[in-house]
Amino acid sequence: MNETIKVIKKRRSIRKFQAEQIKASELQEILDCAILAPNAMNQQKWHFTVIQNKAVLDRMVEIIKENILNLGNDFMKEKAGLPSYHTFYNAPTVILISALEEAPWVQVDCGLAAENITLAAEAQNIGSCVIASSRMLFASEKGNTMRKELGLPEGYNHVCTIALGYKNESPETPPRNKEVFNYVK
Ligand SMILES: Cc1cc2nc3c(=O)[nH]c(=O)nc-3n(C[C@H](O)[C@H](O)[C@H](O)COP(=O)(O)O)c2cc1C
Repeated sequence: MNETIKVIKKRRSIRKFQAEQIKASELQEILDCAILAPNAMNQQKWHFTVIQNKAVLDRMVEIIKENILNLGNDFMKEKAGLPSYHTFYNAPTVILISALEEAPWVQVDCGLAAENITLAAEAQNIGSCVIASSRMLFASEKGNTMRKELGLPEGYNHVCTIALGYKNESPETPPRNKEVFNYVK
C-alpha cells in the first residue's frame, strides 16, 4: 500500500501517552508540515503555540475543568468531573492552533493544518488527538489572562489544540458510516 495512504489509515486519536517528551527534530517535522497545509489565498492567518511545560498545561487544564463545571453541557460536565480528567490526556506536547477571527475560511485552513499535524505525527509513530474542548480555557476572565503567557497574537482566537506524544495505547478504528457518498457521472 502507498505509504501516505497507510499513514492516513493507521492514524487514530490517542488518549494515553507516555511521559517521555518527543524529540525536537520530530516536532520540527510536524511544524514544517503544519504550515504546508493548503489555506485560502495562502493567507496563513494561523498561529501555532507549542506548549511543553507541564505546569502550564496542568494550569490550563485546571481552568478548563473549572469553566466546564460552571458553564459546560452535561456531557462535558460528566467527563470533567472524573478524578482522572485531563483535557490533554497528560500528553507531553500540546499545540494550540489560533486564527485571526475575521480571515475568510480560516477555520478550514486550521483544520487542514491540524490534519497535517496528525499525519506528520503518525508518520513518525507519534500519537495525536485533536481537541476542541480546550476552547473552554477562554470561557472565563481567568482563562483569558493566559492569552499573553501563551503568546496568542492580537486578534487571534483558539481553534483547537492537538495533544502529541509517544503512544501508550493502540485503539481500534471507531466505526465509520460508509453511506455518505453519491456519484454524479
Ligand atoms: C474538531 C474536532 C474536535 C475534537 N475534540 C475532541 C475533544 O475535545 N476531546 C477528545 O478526546 N477528542 C476530540 N476529538 C477527536 C475525535 O473524537 C475523533 O477524531 C473521532 O472520535 C474519530 O476517531 P479517530 O480520530 O480515532 O478516527 C476531536 C476531533 C475533531 C476533528
